[in-house]
Amino acid sequence: MNDTAVHADEPSIAELIAARPQLRMDAMDGLLLEGVPLNAIADALGTPAWVYGAGTMRARYGALADAIRAAGLDAHIHYAVKANDHLAVLRVFAAEGAGADVVSGGELARALAAGVPASRVVFSGVGKTNDELWLALSHDVAQINVESAEELARLSALAVAANATARVALRVNPDVDAGTHGKIATGRAGDKFGIAHDEIVPLYRHAAALPGIRPIGLAVHIGSQIRSMAPYRTAFARVADLVRALRAEGLSVEVADCGGGLGIGYRNEPEASPAALAGAIRAAFGDLGVRLVRLVLEPGRWLVAGAGVLLASVIQEKHSGGVRFVVLDAAMNDLLRPSLYEAWHGVVPVAAADAVAATTEADIVGPVCETGDTFARARRLPKLRNNSRVAILDAGAYGAVMSSTYNARPLAAQAMVDGENWAPIRARQPVEALWQAECIPDWME
Ligand code: LLP
Repeated sequence: MNDTAVHADEPSIAELIAARPQLRMDAMDGLLLEGVPLNAIADALGTPAWVYGAGTMRARYGALADAIRAAGLDAHIHYAVKANDHLAVLRVFAAEGAGADVVSGGELARALAAGVPASRVVFSGVGKTNDELWLALSHDVAQINVESAEELARLSALAVAANATARVALRVNPDVDAGTHGKIATGRAGDKFGIAHDEIVPLYRHAAALPGIRPIGLAVHIGSQIRSMAPYRTAFARVADLVRALRAEGLSVEVADCGGGLGIGYRNEPEASPAALAGAIRAAFGDLGVRLVRLVLEPGRWLVAGAGVLLASVIQEKHSGGVRFVVLDAAMNDLLRPSLYEAWHGVVPVAAADAVAATTEADIVGPVCETGDTFARARRLPKLRNNSRVAILDAGAYGAVMSSTYNARPLAAQAMVDGENWAPIRARQPVEALWQAECIPDWME
């Protein structure tokens, strides 16, 4: 089959590698992540296995921080823990000075366990239980992003009972379509997130009078994998207008939390530029001056996606109905994004010889019993022998965190590369662990 023309916009294996400074193909050792042979890691841990590069994470954090500084902004980066919540990943960002954006009691506990001080934690999320709010209050987290009048009332009662004061940002729903996949757009009027922008001023006024609550600012997050600045500009302008309206009433606004969402170039398309984001923030909030004490950013994907790969082995190739299928030992239970969002991820062979061999089209699939268990369709790949390895690219964000054990497939191993070193950071889950917490009712014994 040769329909190169149809896929003319698809990057080749060589182009995928060349566009990612963290990857290199070595003639002897095969694909390297930050200079470390992925074959060595797969030999030691087996596949499927996630591998993350700490150097890439630091470089991305540095690039974002530099762009913010260059725009003259005083902004604090709170890494969105949901993108990759491994303690070692959190430790990398904590050491760079990042705070954390968490959306559950579990994420808060993880961030604290990794050494992120509560004074650098923002607690977001559309539904926080009383237990989670209580946990946030007891640790005195920096900021709680409240998403409704109902939640505000609940938080006030809890704060009074805890004899605490909650620093609250109201999350604005700006009614902006981020132009991303519908399942990850969060700022449209009908989406479950935030407070309608025309309800913000009265609710903020109300919050200022509530016991146990100190309103400190506004938050907005319009979605994820956003590569165009236009929706950001519209959303930030709406938030800036609200800041002006609140200040005109004499209310104090110290924080503008601009959310996350910066998109990357999975297909080598231009990714969102931190400089452009910093420019959009400056354009919207710059004239609010020094009285706007803090800007907060909550990026996840942009910092970690490219730092990670999912290593998989070919179980076998099969041909059926005129289609060539490459069946991997990784599946939708490991990396859900292609099934859930039709997401495109690069797939490259790990062996150097495979990366330069002639290619034909193949569907790359996992062994799970669902047609949706498909990583890629009509992708040009060389003929792959059984047990040869591939790396699924840009899997550092929303990869392992979204894994399940569907089809009784244990959670995959994880490793981190740092400088010349690499180490396992999570053992492959033993199969017995799948039923460890299960019990059989007495009457069945
Ligand atoms: N802040 C809030 C309030 C969020 O809801 C999110 C992501 C972020 C920050 C971080 O967004 P990022 O910078 O990573 O785009 N599982 C999906 C992505 C879901 C994003 C949910 N919220 C995916 O695999 O594409």
